Amino acid sequence: MPRKQRVALVTGANKGIGFEVARELARKGCRVFLGARNQDAGEAAAKKLQSEGDVTFLKIDISKIDNVRRAANEFAKESDRLDVLVNNAGILLDDDKDVLTVTPEIFETTMRTNALGALIVSQAFVPFLKKSDAPRIVNVSSSGGQLTDGADGWAPAYCISKTALNGVTVQLAAALPTFAINSVCPGWVRTDMGGANATRSLGEGAAGIVWLAAEAPQNETGKFWRDRKVIPW
Ligand SMILES: NC(=O)c1ccc[n+]([C@@H]2O[C@H](COP(=O)([O-])OP(=O)(O)OC[C@H]3O[C@@H](n4cnc5c(N)ncnc54)[C@H](OP(=O)(O)O)[C@@H]3O)[C@@H](O)[C@H]2O)c1
Repeated sequence: MPRKQRVALVTGANKGIGFEVARELARKGCRVFLGARNQDAGEAAAKKLQSEGDVTFLKIDISKIDNVRRAANEFAKESDRLDVLVNNAGILLDDDKDVLTVTPEIFETTMRTNALGALIVSQAFVPFLKKSDAPRIVNVSSSGGQLTDGADGWAPAYCISKTALNGVTVQLAAALPTFAINSVCPGWVRTDMGGANATRSLGEGAAGIVWLAAEAPQNETGKFWRDRKVIPW
């Protein structure tokens, strides 16, 4: 019997690492929903990838619950099943510089997008993932969220939001034992967020995410990865 085409949703996929993950999953034959909050940017990105595979734009702002629910309703018109959710969308705000002076507004906005956003998108799409025979959620985190080595003072709101995102990973993995749900650090990648001096190309940054989304053993869950190896929380 031919294997069913896998269905994937990647958030924040109009550019950067998310775009590259969407491209790689499309090349692997997945039906990819390219999530973006900006209609024009999302449509343009999806159009760019249509020559590489089956790619559909889905408008989704992960920081707004109504918008996420609306996106789930739109998705339901296209597919009743989701196999892979990549919670990639994230922000690093310029003023996120010092834990002693970071404003409540910046902290809250960062947490809302990077941690709560991944949780509410997961909640909204779990009903579709439950229809998969091998459901996966990949949360794009950062080594900045690791607690093991303490903090170095860089981007505290961002780092704390990624620590919280890792908590979301562990909690979801416990609640959904048949799913593969993992956090992954892509390394330092040349994107708008990572900057021009970052050490990794888009392809190098996307590789570990794509591996968890499409290739890693299904029984690997509730872990934090970089370069296909488990790293400490
Ligand atoms: N680059 C690195 O070195 C690095 C290292 C570790 C972890 N990461 C993580 O990797 C992920 C991707 O980062 P990147 O480097 O590719 O960053 P990027 O180039 O700045 O792209 C971020 C993406 O997230 C989207 N986004 C932000 N807020 C959103 C929201 N509320 N709803 C929907 N989409 C939203 C952005 O959309 P707009 O275009 O509309 O803003 C954009 O598509 C992030 O989670 C980041 O924390 C990156």
